[in-house]
Amino acid sequence: MIIVAKNEAAAQEIAQKLDQHDPIHPVFVHQNRVALAGIKNISAADQQAIADQVEEIIENHHSAIKSSRAFHPEDTIIKTKHSVIGGKHFVLMAGPDSIESPEHVLEMGQDVKAAGATILRGGAFKPRTSPYSYQGNGEAGLKAHRAAADALEMDMVTEILDTRDVDLVDQYTDIFQVGTRNMQNFALLKALGQKRKPVVLKRGMSATIDDLLNAAEYIAAGGNDQIMLMERGIRTFDSKYTRNTFDVGAIPVLQKLTHYPIIADTSHAAGHSEFVTPLAQAAVAAGAQGLMTEIHNDPSHAFVDGAQALTPAQYQVLATTVRKIHEVIA
Ligand code: E4P
Ligand code: PEP
Repeated sequence: MIIVAKNEAAAQEIAQKLDQHDPIHPVFVHQNRVALAGIKNISAADQQAIADQVEEIIENHHSAIKSSRAFHPEDTIIKTKHSVIGGKHFVLMAGPDSIESPEHVLEMGQDVKAAGATILRGGAFKPRTSPYSYQGNGEAGLKAHRAAADALEMDMVTEILDTRDVDLVDQYTDIFQVGTRNMQNFALLKALGQKRKPVVLKRGMSATIDDLLNAAEYIAAGGNDQIMLMERGIRTFDSKYTRNTFDVGAIPVLQKLTHYPIIADTSHAAGHSEFVTPLAQAAVAAGAQGLMTEIHNDPSHAFVDGAQALTPAQYQVLATTVRKIHEVIA
């Protein structure tokens, strides 16, 4: 439940009058309204006692307030040097899964730029299931990625795994990526909340939509409102044919619930290159405002996730078709 107070003084009065176990946090929202987070259901007598201070009581609302469309009706638009993300705009982010060498990331960048991508992806810190798998090339990868993005006049997006690397990654990247495995790494989310730089937050592979919204709220609560949410597939009972189940329904649902841009990563959802493009087309048809896609010129020799990498020629087809779909629905 969210209580919307008439103003700040009214919010404080309500907090005093209600005897709640959890601390009540006033959250400033649009149009000078103050929403109170952390309210458990309250009795009829309590409701009566605070009636003069209350503007509205919203039942059954997830606890993410700054992230909620109820308090921020207009779409968030994020502007980076080379991209505009959100609203009616459509953005393509693409590149290799991991930064393999300066030459390779530059070549992959040229290919995705030629297809219309404005944001170059690539991981220098890789979240691997096995500690013995390739973990990324760290700062050398960040440097190569930055150099390629600058040479091509593209934005850079890269994953951050650890709070200890936030300042290092911040020196290089234009957009922080929080991966599925870290969606509820609250220390990391809080650290990114202190930055004033866009964050693309991937849905945890076992996270509900409310979990994702609350994870975003950790970033927003720190004052960083440049957030994109990314659907990348969730774990379900069937992972025989696709790596994850792409939750296409999450796209319109999230667009109803939140004002942040919604992006889809169908590479990690599909797990196999042949399914990446049909899923991307479905994502855009469902309203996704952007796509993240992995490519490789020699997928069978990719350092990470070669099975789901599109070749540059396949990526060109994806980009051309999704742009047409976006034109129809925008
Ligand atoms: C790549 O982007 C991820 O690090 C990769 O999908 C992790 O999966 P794996 O370590 O199980 O291969
Ligand atoms: C990635 O995009 O490199 C990645 C690791 O994706 P995810 O967090 O979705 O697995």
